[in-house]
Amino acid sequence: MQATSCIRGQAVGGRRAAGRAAGRRSVAVQAAAANPFAEELKATAKYIATRGKGILASDESNATTGKRLESVGVENTEDNRRDWRQLLYTAPGLGQYISGAIMFEETLYQKARDGTPFVDILTKEGIRPGIKVDTGLQMLPGTDGETSTQGLDNLQARCEAYYKQGARFAKWRAAILENAHGLARYAQIAQAAGLVPIVEPEVTLGPGAYSIEETAYWSERVYSHVMRLLNEYDVMLEGILLKPNMCLPGLDAPPASPAEVAKYTTRTMLRTIPASVPGIHFLSGGMSEEESTLNLQALQEACPNAPWSLTFSYGRALQASTLKTWAGKEENWDAAQKILVALAKANSEAQLGQFKGPHPVPGGGRILQALRTGGAGK
Ligand code: 13P
Repeated sequence: MQATSCIRGQAVGGRRAAGRAAGRRSVAVQAAAANPFAEELKATAKYIATRGKGILASDESNATTGKRLESVGVENTEDNRRDWRQLLYTAPGLGQYISGAIMFEETLYQKARDGTPFVDILTKEGIRPGIKVDTGLQMLPGTDGETSTQGLDNLQARCEAYYKQGARFAKWRAAILENAHGLARYAQIAQAAGLVPIVEPEVTLGPGAYSIEETAYWSERVYSHVMRLLNEYDVMLEGILLKPNMCLPGLDAPPASPAEVAKYTTRTMLRTIPASVPGIHFLSGGMSEEESTLNLQALQEACPNAPWSLTFSYGRALQASTLKTWAGKEENWDAAQKILVALAKANSEAQLGQFKGPHPVPGGGRILQALRTGGAGK
């Protein structure tokens, strides 16, 4: 698990951080109070967290999209990336189950083959357009593979431009605690530009035989730390969405049942996430399509009166079979869209605690092997 050493590092630096934050506070409080987007941010976050709906995470970088397209024999060109996203965004009935779609910058500005901007297609379907605003991870020299999330320098100007282009929410991925200040700063800047920040403090499924208890322990430390920093930066919690991991054991440990996953995941959330956050949108993080749905359903059973919507922001768990079914062939277009909508519907039902099965893509093992090429990189 990546978080360990960073948590220790952050604990030492915590007091200095608090001092800096106190100095900023009066300015930040005024800024928050004066934010002309305050009501819109709350409404957007609430809308995206509508019960029975979730997010389609389709913000893979051109490089990652390319690896996935190539895995089904499709060349990584701008037109093919456009076709793939068009297939996703124009799937009939998608808006019944999906309230937001996260895009990569290229896609935010792309148009469908008939010239209609993707943002218009999504908005018409009731799907809020979102944008990934971090610019990737840099390895930190002298560490055990730790990374720093890039993109704060010109973030404000970019967020303003994305809002103009039709984006209404944003995503920033911070893989370790070293980046928690950046995550909070990003959330503050995004809100100032009218974008609801998805806060994604990533603790992902990885190799190793670590237990589910261990994941829960570190997840709890990471999320409580991130929430503290969001408070320090005066981020309005009603205007954010959280994108965490479910608590899972390591890939080399025996798998956990949905009930166990739900027990540790909801315990972690109840201990760390204030009720004012409207939606907790879990990533699929390498779980199979069926596992993602069954675990989501178990969360509702473990926490039937959750103050937030416990829902999904799935990438691979919505796209894997959709992509394999399409494989770049025009004649498979409708079948692929049907799979996507069936997966979205299954997860929508699971969010409501009403999924009865059978699953549209049963089985699949513990992890989406086919999509592990190149890791979970975005
Ligand atoms: P996965 O659901 O494939 O883990 O991806 C989610 C994500 O973060 C993409 O934005």
